[in-house]
Amino acid sequence: MTFEHESLIGLREISADEIMFLLDEAKAFRNILEREIKKVPTLRWLTVVNLFYEPSTRTRISFELAEKRLSADVVNFSISGSSVSKGESLRDTINNILAMKVDMVVVRHSSVGAAYYIARECGVPVINAGDGTNEHPTQALLDLFTISQRFGYFRGLRVVIVGDIRHSRVARSDIWGLKKLGASVAICGPRTLLPQNCDVFGVDVYTDLEEALSGANVVNVLRLQFERQKAGYIPSIREYRMKWGLTSERVAFLDPDHAIMHPGPMNRGVEIDPDVADSEESVILPQVTNGVAVRMAVLFTLASKIKK
Ligand code: CP
Repeated sequence: MTFEHESLIGLREISADEIMFLLDEAKAFRNILEREIKKVPTLRWLTVVNLFYEPSTRTRISFELAEKRLSADVVNFSISGSSVSKGESLRDTINNILAMKVDMVVVRHSSVGAAYYIARECGVPVINAGDGTNEHPTQALLDLFTISQRFGYFRGLRVVIVGDIRHSRVARSDIWGLKKLGASVAICGPRTLLPQNCDVFGVDVYTDLEEALSGANVVNVLRLQFERQKAGYIPSIREYRMKWGLTSERVAFLDPDHAIMHPGPMNRGVEIDPDVADSEESVILPQVTNGVAVRMAVLFTLASKIKK
């Protein structure tokens, strides 16, 4: 097993074997995170820039931690305080950063295709940390890692993704990854928040949450992405919670052997109730811990392809 690509743009374009390769690599890095000294000298020759054109807590911090735990040099860029406000283009921004001898780019951007564009136009290895509504591949890898840690297998598992699927890059990356590894996937939400082209995903589609949850092993709850919603997609937050919020009563519809996931940030009392988010079946914080290991694995794998 090996990883064939120089960048990680999405799970849609990588194979099941490549996904399993990254998950296996992440296992070794997850063990390092349990040591007293959580740092290895492996990538001390590497310089990475973390370019965040959109807000982030988990992804930005875990990439930075992953880079530092591999001993890479790290530069953090966010648009506030940068020359983007003076009109500098994405391409010029990247080329100027690369002129300072940076080896790899981690990028989050509101435009679909931004990570692919940088990899193609600037000839640098790129890790997509979320591009618009398209993909968030390292989030999906950490979700897959967490599911594998909890259940030990994918084939035969039933996973339900609930919420604002239409605007969710996490949902898209999760679907590509889970389907490639043999899980059965369902999506559920108000009709207005389901993608228009549901057919391309090969998933079961529900608008009734209790029906969707029936017998499922994993429920992944997504927040309403108001920042991407250009119209009033739901009558009110109160009505959304009543019909699609994950409450303890609705958890009872799941298989007795189940896990509750959320990529964060959570809106407690809207898409998920606090007692459910904090229950024994919740793996929401383990997801965050596993995110560091998964990002170490991706950084290490792509760095090993750079000709020094
Ligand atoms: N899950 C996720 O992408 O969270 P952040 O937006 O905080 O990075």
